[in-house]
Amino acid sequence: DWTMGAYREEAIRLIREQVGDAKVICGLSGGVDSSVAAVLIHEAIGDQLTCVFVDHGLLREGEAEQVVTMFRDHYNMPLVHAQEDDLFLDALEGVSDPEVKRKTIGKLFIDVFQKHAAEVGGATFLAQGTLYPDVIESVSFSGGPSVTIKSHHNVGGLPEKMGLKLVEPLRELFKDEVRALGRELGLPDSFIGRHPFPGPGLAIRCPGEITREKLAILRRADAVFIDQIRKHGLYDEIWQAFVALLPVRTVGVMGDGRTYDYACAMRAVTSVDGMTADYYPFTHEFLGETATRIINEVRGINRVTYDVTSKPPGTIEWE
Ligand code: XMP
Repeated sequence: DWTMGAYREEAIRLIREQVGDAKVICGLSGGVDSSVAAVLIHEAIGDQLTCVFVDHGLLREGEAEQVVTMFRDHYNMPLVHAQEDDLFLDALEGVSDPEVKRKTIGKLFIDVFQKHAAEVGGATFLAQGTLYPDVIESVSFSGGPSVTIKSHHNVGGLPEKMGLKLVEPLRELFKDEVRALGRELGLPDSFIGRHPFPGPGLAIRCPGEITREKLAILRRADAVFIDQIRKHGLYDEIWQAFVALLPVRTVGVMGDGRTYDYACAMRAVTSVDGMTADYYPFTHEFLGETATRIINEVRGINRVTYDVTSKPPGTIEWE
Protein backbone atom coordinates (compact mmCIF):
# COMPACT_ATOMS: atom_id res chain seq x y z
CA ASP A 1 0.00 0.00 0.00
CA TRP A 2 1.57 3.26 -1.19
CA THR A 3 0.00 5.56 1.40
CA MET A 4 0.84 3.30 4.33
CA GLY A 5 4.40 2.83 3.09
CA ALA A 6 4.85 6.60 3.28
CA TYR A 7 3.04 6.80 6.62
CA ARG A 8 5.30 4.12 8.05
CA GLU A 9 8.48 5.98 7.06
CA GLU A 10 7.21 9.26 8.43
CA ALA A 11 5.94 7.69 11.66
CA ILE A 12 9.32 6.02 12.26
CA ARG A 13 11.12 9.30 11.67
CA LEU A 14 8.83 11.10 14.14
CA ILE A 15 9.17 8.39 16.80
CA ARG A 16 12.98 8.57 16.61
CA GLU A 17 12.88 12.35 16.78
CA GLN A 18 10.53 12.34 19.77
CA VAL A 19 12.19 9.58 21.77
CA GLY A 20 15.88 10.08 21.07
CA ASP A 21 17.81 7.49 23.07
CA ALA A 22 15.27 7.25 25.89
CA LYS A 23 13.57 4.04 26.96
CA VAL A 24 9.94 3.37 26.14
CA ILE A 25 7.44 0.98 27.62
CA CYS A 26 4.41 -0.10 25.70
CA GLY A 27 1.30 -1.69 27.10
CA LEU A 28 0.57 -4.59 24.82
CA SER A 29 -3.02 -5.81 25.01
CA GLY A 30 -2.95 -8.28 22.16
CA GLY A 31 -5.34 -6.11 20.22
CA VAL A 32 -4.55 -4.83 16.77
CA ASP A 33 -3.90 -1.25 17.90
CA SER A 34 -1.28 -1.86 20.55
CA SER A 35 0.29 -4.63 18.44
CA VAL A 36 0.74 -2.35 15.45
CA ALA A 37 2.02 0.45 17.70
CA ALA A 38 4.55 -1.93 19.30
CA VAL A 39 5.87 -3.30 15.99
CA LEU A 40 6.15 0.20 14.52
CA ILE A 41 7.99 1.56 17.55
CA HIS A 42 10.21 -1.51 17.72
CA GLU A 43 11.15 -0.89 14.11
CA ALA A 44 11.99 2.72 14.97
CA ILE A 45 13.99 2.26 18.18
CA GLY A 46 14.66 -1.49 18.59
CA ASP A 47 15.39 -2.69 22.10
CA GLN A 48 14.88 0.75 23.63
CA LEU A 49 11.30 -0.53 23.67
CA THR A 50 10.01 -2.98 26.28
CA CYS A 51 6.46 -4.25 25.99
CA VAL A 52 4.44 -5.03 29.06
CA PHE A 53 1.61 -7.49 28.63
CA VAL A 54 -0.68 -7.34 31.63
CA ASP A 55 -2.73 -10.47 32.20
CA HIS A 56 -5.47 -9.02 34.38
CA GLY A 57 -7.42 -12.28 34.53
CA LEU A 58 -10.01 -10.76 32.17
CA LEU A 59 -8.66 -12.16 28.92
CA ARG A 60 -10.33 -14.58 26.54
CA GLU A 61 -9.50 -18.26 26.21
CA GLY A 62 -5.91 -18.87 25.03
CA GLU A 63 -5.23 -15.17 24.59
CA ALA A 64 -2.19 -14.72 26.84
CA GLU A 65 -0.31 -17.61 25.22
CA GLN A 66 -1.02 -16.29 21.72
CA VAL A 67 0.25 -12.81 22.50
CA VAL A 68 3.37 -13.86 24.36
CA THR A 69 4.32 -16.41 21.70
CA MET A 70 3.83 -13.89 18.93
CA PHE A 71 5.85 -11.00 20.34
CA ARG A 72 8.51 -12.73 22.37
CA ASP A 73 9.23 -15.66 20.09
CA HIS A 74 8.24 -14.40 16.66
CA TYR A 75 9.23 -10.73 16.90
CA ASN A 76 11.99 -11.13 19.49
CA MET A 77 10.79 -8.13 21.42
CA PRO A 78 11.70 -7.61 25.05
CA LEU A 79 8.40 -8.51 26.68
CA VAL A 80 7.33 -8.61 30.30
CA HIS A 81 4.42 -10.97 30.95
CA ALA A 82 2.86 -9.52 34.08
CA GLN A 83 0.61 -12.17 35.64
CA GLU A 84 -1.60 -9.99 37.80
CA ASP A 85 -4.98 -11.72 37.84
CA ASP A 86 -5.16 -11.85 41.64
CA LEU A 87 -4.43 -8.14 41.93
CA PHE A 88 -7.20 -7.16 39.50
CA LEU A 89 -9.83 -9.72 40.44
CA ASP A 90 -9.45 -9.08 44.17
CA ALA A 91 -9.86 -5.35 43.60
CA LEU A 92 -12.96 -5.94 41.47
CA GLU A 93 -14.63 -8.11 44.07
CA GLY A 94 -18.07 -6.72 44.85
CA VAL A 95 -17.82 -4.01 42.16
CA SER A 96 -20.76 -3.87 39.79
CA ASP A 97 -20.85 -0.27 38.54
CA PRO A 98 -19.36 -0.13 35.01
CA GLU A 99 -17.48 3.12 35.53
CA VAL A 100 -16.05 1.94 38.84
CA LYS A 101 -14.90 -1.23 37.08
CA ARG A 102 -13.13 0.80 34.39
CA LYS A 103 -11.55 3.17 36.93
CA THR A 104 -10.41 0.30 39.14
CA ILE A 105 -8.84 -1.47 36.18
CA GLY A 106 -7.31 1.75 34.82
CA LYS A 107 -5.73 2.54 38.18
CA LEU A 108 -4.24 -0.93 38.56
CA PHE A 109 -2.87 -0.76 35.01
CA ILE A 110 -1.00 2.38 36.11
CA ASP A 111 0.38 0.61 39.19
CA VAL A 112 1.53 -2.41 37.21
CA PHE A 113 3.09 -0.26 34.49
CA GLN A 114 4.85 1.90 37.03
CA LYS A 115 6.33 -1.15 38.67
CA HIS A 116 7.65 -2.42 35.34
CA ALA A 117 8.75 0.99 34.09
CA ALA A 118 11.03 1.09 37.11
CA GLU A 119 12.31 -2.43 36.39
CA VAL A 120 13.05 -1.55 32.78
CA GLY A 121 15.56 0.94 34.16
CA GLY A 122 14.02 4.34 33.83
CA ALA A 123 11.64 4.39 30.91
CA THR A 124 10.49 7.95 30.34
CA PHE A 125 7.98 7.30 27.57
CA LEU A 126 4.79 5.31 27.46
CA ALA A 127 3.60 4.08 24.07
CA GLN A 128 -0.11 3.61 23.42
CA GLY A 129 -2.16 2.48 20.46
CA THR A 130 -4.68 5.28 20.77
CA LEU A 131 -6.72 5.76 17.59
CA TYR A 132 -8.46 8.81 16.22
CA PRO A 133 -11.97 7.60 17.23
CA ASP A 134 -10.73 7.13 20.83
CA VAL A 135 -9.50 10.69 20.82
CA ILE A 136 -12.69 12.26 19.48
CA GLU A 137 -15.11 10.07 21.45
CA SER A 138 -13.36 11.06 24.66
CA VAL A 139 -13.19 14.73 23.79
CA SER A 140 -16.78 15.04 22.63
CA PHE A 141 -18.10 13.40 25.76
CA SER A 142 -15.77 15.06 28.24
CA GLY A 143 -18.03 17.99 29.11
CA GLY A 144 -18.61 16.73 32.65
CA PRO A 145 -19.69 13.67 34.56
CA SER A 146 -23.30 13.88 33.38
CA VAL A 147 -22.33 13.57 29.73
CA THR A 148 -19.42 11.17 30.13
CA ILE A 149 -20.52 8.07 28.25
CA LYS A 150 -17.53 5.91 29.02
CA SER A 151 -14.04 6.50 30.26
CA HIS A 152 -11.54 5.05 27.83
CA HIS A 153 -8.66 4.08 30.02
CA ASN A 154 -6.21 4.52 27.16
CA VAL A 155 -7.01 8.18 26.65
CA GLY A 156 -5.87 10.90 29.00
CA GLY A 157 -4.83 10.94 32.63
CA LEU A 158 -2.66 7.87 32.70
CA PRO A 159 0.81 9.09 31.75
CA GLU A 160 0.63 12.37 33.67
CA LYS A 161 0.08 10.41 36.87
CA MET A 162 2.99 8.16 35.95
CA GLY A 163 5.32 11.00 35.05
CA LEU A 164 5.75 9.54 31.57
CA LYS A 165 5.54 11.22 28.22
CA LEU A 166 3.28 9.72 25.58
CA VAL A 167 4.16 8.13 22.26
CA GLU A 168 0.99 7.63 20.23
CA PRO A 169 1.90 6.93 16.62
CA LEU A 170 -1.63 5.87 15.61
CA ARG A 171 -3.44 8.93 16.89
CA GLU A 172 -4.46 10.08 13.44
CA LEU A 173 -5.61 6.72 12.13
CA PHE A 174 -8.91 4.91 11.88
CA LYS A 175 -9.12 1.18 12.47
CA ASP A 176 -8.99 0.19 8.79
CA GLU A 177 -5.86 2.33 8.37
CA VAL A 178 -4.24 0.69 11.38
CA ARG A 179 -4.90 -2.68 9.80
CA ALA A 180 -3.36 -1.50 6.52
CA LEU A 181 -0.31 -0.27 8.44
CA GLY A 182 -0.07 -3.61 10.26
CA ARG A 183 -0.07 -5.43 6.93
CA GLU A 184 2.58 -3.04 5.69
CA LEU A 185 4.65 -3.98 8.77
CA GLY A 186 4.26 -7.69 8.04
CA LEU A 187 1.99 -8.65 10.92
CA PRO A 188 0.18 -11.91 10.08
CA ASP A 189 -3.38 -11.65 8.76
CA SER A 190 -4.66 -13.74 11.66
CA PHE A 191 -3.58 -10.92 13.96
CA ILE A 192 -4.55 -7.98 11.79
CA GLY A 193 -8.03 -9.28 11.15
CA ARG A 194 -8.72 -9.77 14.84
CA HIS A 195 -11.84 -8.20 16.24
CA PRO A 196 -11.24 -5.30 18.64
CA PHE A 197 -11.06 -6.23 22.30
CA PRO A 198 -11.48 -3.57 24.99
CA GLY A 199 -8.78 -2.85 27.57
CA PRO A 200 -11.03 -3.76 30.54
CA GLY A 201 -11.60 -7.08 28.80
CA LEU A 202 -14.23 -9.47 30.03
CA ALA A 203 -14.98 -7.17 32.98
CA ILE A 204 -17.33 -5.14 30.78
CA ARG A 205 -18.88 -8.27 29.26
CA CYS A 206 -19.90 -9.55 32.64
CA PRO A 207 -22.50 -7.01 33.82
CA GLY A 208 -22.82 -6.88 37.57
CA GLU A 209 -20.35 -8.44 39.94
CA ILE A 210 -17.40 -10.33 38.47
CA THR A 211 -16.36 -13.67 39.88
CA ARG A 212 -13.82 -16.22 38.73
CA GLU A 213 -16.65 -18.69 38.23
CA LYS A 214 -18.56 -16.32 35.95
CA LEU A 215 -15.41 -15.50 34.00
CA ALA A 216 -14.73 -19.19 33.39
CA ILE A 217 -18.27 -19.69 32.06
CA LEU A 218 -18.07 -16.57 29.91
CA ARG A 219 -14.72 -17.64 28.43
CA ARG A 220 -16.10 -21.01 27.34
CA ALA A 221 -19.28 -19.55 25.82
CA ASP A 222 -17.35 -16.85 23.99
CA ALA A 223 -14.96 -19.45 22.55
CA VAL A 224 -17.88 -21.53 21.24
CA PHE A 225 -19.54 -18.48 19.64
CA ILE A 226 -16.33 -17.38 17.92
CA ASP A 227 -15.68 -20.96 16.79
CA GLN A 228 -19.14 -21.04 15.20
CA ILE A 229 -18.50 -17.74 13.45
CA ARG A 230 -15.20 -19.01 12.07
CA LYS A 231 -16.66 -22.35 11.00
CA HIS A 232 -19.35 -20.54 9.04
CA GLY A 233 -16.78 -18.27 7.40
CA LEU A 234 -18.28 -15.12 8.92
CA TYR A 235 -15.40 -13.82 11.05
CA ASP A 236 -14.13 -11.27 8.55
CA GLU A 237 -17.59 -9.92 7.77
CA ILE A 238 -18.11 -9.01 11.41
CA TRP A 239 -16.51 -6.03 13.16
CA GLN A 240 -16.74 -7.53 16.62
CA ALA A 241 -18.45 -10.50 18.21
CA PHE A 242 -18.58 -11.76 21.76
CA VAL A 243 -20.74 -13.21 24.46
CA ALA A 244 -21.89 -11.24 27.49
CA LEU A 245 -22.77 -13.26 30.58
CA LEU A 246 -25.94 -11.86 32.11
CA PRO A 247 -26.21 -11.42 35.87
CA VAL A 248 -29.39 -13.44 36.01
CA ARG A 249 -30.21 -17.11 36.33
CA THR A 250 -33.19 -18.59 34.59
CA VAL A 251 -35.04 -21.88 34.82
CA GLY A 252 -34.62 -24.57 32.17
CA VAL A 253 -35.15 -28.28 31.63
CA MET A 254 -32.51 -30.80 30.77
CA GLY A 255 -33.35 -34.49 30.50
CA ASP A 256 -35.90 -34.92 33.24
CA GLY A 257 -34.32 -32.39 35.54
CA ARG A 258 -34.79 -28.73 36.14
CA THR A 259 -31.83 -26.39 35.69
CA TYR A 260 -31.26 -22.97 37.16
CA ASP A 261 -28.31 -21.42 35.36
CA TYR A 262 -27.05 -18.21 33.79
CA ALA A 263 -28.44 -16.60 30.66
CA CYS A 264 -26.05 -15.11 28.13
CA ALA A 265 -26.32 -12.76 25.19
CA MET A 266 -24.47 -13.13 21.91
CA ARG A 267 -23.42 -9.84 20.35
CA ALA A 268 -22.13 -9.40 16.79
CA VAL A 269 -22.01 -6.14 14.87
CA THR A 270 -20.86 -4.69 11.60
CA SER A 271 -19.18 -1.30 11.70
CA VAL A 272 -16.64 0.84 9.89
CA ASP A 273 -14.98 2.51 12.85
CA GLY A 274 -16.83 1.42 15.99
CA MET A 275 -18.63 4.77 16.26
CA THR A 276 -21.85 3.41 14.82
CA ALA A 277 -22.81 -0.23 14.37
CA ASP A 278 -25.55 -2.56 13.18
CA TYR A 279 -26.29 -5.98 14.58
CA TYR A 280 -25.18 -8.79 12.29
CA PRO A 281 -28.07 -10.57 10.50
CA PHE A 282 -27.26 -14.21 11.28
CA THR A 283 -29.56 -16.84 9.81
CA HIS A 284 -32.01 -18.58 12.14
CA GLU A 285 -30.13 -21.82 11.49
CA PHE A 286 -26.89 -20.26 12.70
CA LEU A 287 -28.50 -18.80 15.80
CA GLY A 288 -30.25 -22.04 16.71
CA GLU A 289 -27.19 -24.20 16.14
CA THR A 290 -24.98 -21.86 18.18
CA ALA A 291 -27.43 -21.63 21.06
CA THR A 292 -27.61 -25.43 21.17
CA ARG A 293 -23.84 -25.74 21.17
CA ILE A 294 -23.39 -23.20 23.97
CA ILE A 295 -25.98 -24.86 26.17
CA ASN A 296 -24.60 -28.35 25.50
CA GLU A 297 -20.93 -27.45 25.82
CA VAL A 298 -20.89 -24.81 28.54
CA ARG A 299 -21.85 -25.88 32.00
CA GLY A 300 -23.51 -22.99 33.82
CA ILE A 301 -25.53 -21.54 30.92
CA ASN A 302 -29.05 -22.73 30.08
CA ARG A 303 -30.40 -19.82 28.01
CA VAL A 304 -28.99 -17.95 25.03
CA THR A 305 -30.26 -14.68 23.56
CA TYR A 306 -29.12 -12.59 20.60
CA ASP A 307 -28.70 -8.85 21.02
CA VAL A 308 -30.28 -6.99 18.05
CA THR A 309 -29.54 -3.45 19.23
CA SER A 310 -27.75 -1.06 16.91
CA LYS A 311 -25.34 1.71 17.97
CA PRO A 312 -26.76 4.24 18.60
CA PRO A 313 -28.81 3.91 20.75
CA GLY A 314 -26.91 0.94 22.18
CA THR A 315 -23.17 0.70 22.55
CA ILE A 316 -21.25 -2.27 21.19
CA GLU A 317 -20.20 -3.47 24.63
CA TRP A 318 -22.77 -4.06 27.34
CA GLU A 319 -21.08 -1.71 29.77
P1 XMP B 1 -18.74 0.95 22.62
O1 XMP B 1 -19.11 -0.15 23.54
O2 XMP B 1 -18.53 2.26 23.30
O3 XMP B 1 -17.35 0.54 22.00
O4 XMP B 1 -19.71 1.07 21.45
C1 XMP B 1 -16.76 1.06 20.85
C2 XMP B 1 -15.48 0.29 20.64
O5 XMP B 1 -14.56 0.60 21.68
C3 XMP B 1 -14.26 -0.55 22.45
N1 XMP B 1 -14.25 -0.17 23.86
C4 XMP B 1 -13.15 0.02 24.60
N2 XMP B 1 -11.84 -0.12 24.31
N3 XMP B 1 -11.28 0.49 26.53
C5 XMP B 1 -10.91 0.11 25.27
O6 XMP B 1 -9.72 -0.04 25.04
C6 XMP B 1 -12.57 0.66 26.90
O7 XMP B 1 -12.87 1.00 28.04
C7 XMP B 1 -13.55 0.40 25.87
N4 XMP B 1 -14.90 0.47 25.87
C8 XMP B 1 -15.31 0.10 24.63
C9 XMP B 1 -15.35 -1.55 22.13
O8 XMP B 1 -14.93 -2.90 22.32
C10 XMP B 1 -15.66 -1.22 20.68
O9 XMP B 1 -14.73 -1.80 19.80
